[in-house]
Amino acid sequence: MDHEDGVFMKRFSLLIIGMMVFTLVIIFYALYLHGQLVPSENPIREEVKLARIQPSAGVYAGETGRAEVAAAAAQTSALPAAYGGRMDPQEIYNNVCAACHTTGAAGSPVLNDASLWTDRLAQGIDALVSNAVNGINLMPAKGGRVDLTDDQVRVTVEWMVAQVQQ
Ligand code: HEC
Repeated sequence: MDHEDGVFMKRFSLLIIGMMVFTLVIIFYALYLHGQLVPSENPIREEVKLARIQPSAGVYAGETGRAEVAAAAAQTSALPAAYGGRMDPQEIYNNVCAACHTTGAAGSPVLNDASLWTDRLAQGIDALVSNAVNGINLMPAKGGRVDLTDDQVRVTVEWMVAQVQQ
């Protein structure tokens, strides 16, 4: 081993020792940091616990309540519209309204008897639509199909009125 090899070995050993010290510093620093952590609960177990106590511990007042109500409403309004939302008045009339309005069941004004409609038509189309949407006396709201949209009922009433006026 000549002189240069000796110098190299010395520096190389120093480097290795330095790296070992550095490793130890990192290990102890990591242990220190870990000790600083606030122990947290298992998030999955926490979720299960919350779900279990939900019915009795759920708060349905104030902000939380409003959020719950809004979520429930969103779910209801997300129901698919009847007849795939199609705006075909004849399809809707035949399936929903004809049961009463073709036979006169429950005292409903029959479609092809214009005399039964004179007074009703005098109210104007908006009042007719609103009564069909909300129901009136024995006429159930939307003819009993609450999944019809207001617009679907409107086109159907407009179609019925057109039939009466023929
Ligand atoms: C269960 C029977 C029944 C069904 C189904 C029904 N109706 Fe009626 N409808 C009635 C009766 C009864 C009346 C008369 C109510 C009254 O004025 O006392 C009426 C009245 C109406 C009127 C007149 C309202 C007014 O202001 O005079 C319209 C318009 C109408 N129905 C539209 C519809 C449409 C559109 C549908 C289908 C989506 C439908 N109805 C389904 C029973 C029914």
